[in-house]
Amino acid sequence: MKAITLRRPGGLDHLERVELADPGAPAPGEIRVRIHASSLNFHDLGVVTGRLPADDGRIPMSDGAGVVEAVGDGVTEFAVGDSVVSTFFPYWLDGGPTVDDFSTTPGDGVDGYAREFVVRPVQWFTHAPRGYSHAEAATLTTAALTAWRALAVDYSLKAGDSVLVQGTGGVSIFALQFARQMGATVIATSSSDEKLEKARALGADHLINYRRETDWAAKVLEFTNGRGVDNVVEVGGPDTLGQSIRACRIGGHIALIGVLTGIVGQVPTIDLMRRQQKLQGLIVGSRRHQIDMIRAIDANGLKPVIDRTYPLDEIADAFRHQAAGKHFGKVCLSI
Ligand SMILES: NC(=O)c1ccc[n+]([C@@H]2O[C@H](COP(=O)([O-])OP(=O)(O)OC[C@H]3O[C@@H](n4cnc5c(N)ncnc54)[C@H](OP(=O)(O)O)[C@@H]3O)[C@@H](O)[C@H]2O)c1
Repeated sequence: MKAITLRRPGGLDHLERVELADPGAPAPGEIRVRIHASSLNFHDLGVVTGRLPADDGRIPMSDGAGVVEAVGDGVTEFAVGDSVVSTFFPYWLDGGPTVDDFSTTPGDGVDGYAREFVVRPVQWFTHAPRGYSHAEAATLTTAALTAWRALAVDYSLKAGDSVLVQGTGGVSIFALQFARQMGATVIATSSSDEKLEKARALGADHLINYRRETDWAAKVLEFTNGRGVDNVVEVGGPDTLGQSIRACRIGGHIALIGVLTGIVGQVPTIDLMRRQQKLQGLIVGSRRHQIDMIRAIDANGLKPVIDRTYPLDEIADAFRHQAAGKHFGKVCLSI
């Protein structure tokens, strides 16, 4: 079968197209899936560029979607022909967080989905939403589930709440869409006026160009009559957290998700303490969270925003497009 592997020390010119042995038939409790699509995340970019070290020969890509081709003995959850989507933490099935690293995450600690076929235990996949293309389904594993968890698991968003989403990448656009579907007011930021107009078309109520408005927390306070938002989907990291604390209401919630500006920095702890906010670190979510999110998608008909889809052979170009920050929403691979 056709696959992409990453040679150490990483880097886009170390992605190789290879022929690997077919994974064969599923054993009891396993399914064989023809992978048709994947989607790119900032995390995958870290792996393929070598920023996050992976084993030599690692198959990249955490997100995978496709069709069940065969089921092993005892499998009742899936049937041949079902459309499925992979999970980020194959062993975190339900309940509170149990994982603090990427050692079991496909495309990082174990082989991912830049390949045509895979045979894996059933819990590595869930059903895809009804009517989704494989590319659409492949956007859910990492980006959508992270946004869902920030709004609906760690925080109980309700109609009338306000949410701040930062930038217009995969996680933030899903957060915008979920928040609007739940009846919240959304304030969106971006470095680009053109992208802000696209965010408006998706339902964003207030727009801020964070390049022009460097004190964007002040704009958020202006839009919320001095109160601040109920929930911040914080993807910036150290350089944005201070303003996120200012932009969040007293007693509000900040989902600490991203590292776009780095992994270590100063936190204005006194502001966080005085404003009595909850700062919740999170990594993606469990299989149960994914099933719940897909149920919500089936009920409400959310469609992912796909900026562009590249063929698997052009995976390096797809990552160049993402790294350049040109995308709005998700970048996908067809396999
Ligand atoms: N903890 C988790 O579970 C989890 C899961 C998924 C992602 N993440 C993290 O979340 C972040 C976003 O991931 P992604 O996959 O959505 O990335 P992505 O699709 O590559 O999106 C990147 C976008 O972020 C925006 N951005 C960059 N610097 C910014 C800044 N200083 N302030 C505000 N926005 C900024 C830009 O939007 P504009 O072009 O509009 O300015 C850029 O296009 C990454 O740090 C990633 O590692 C964490």
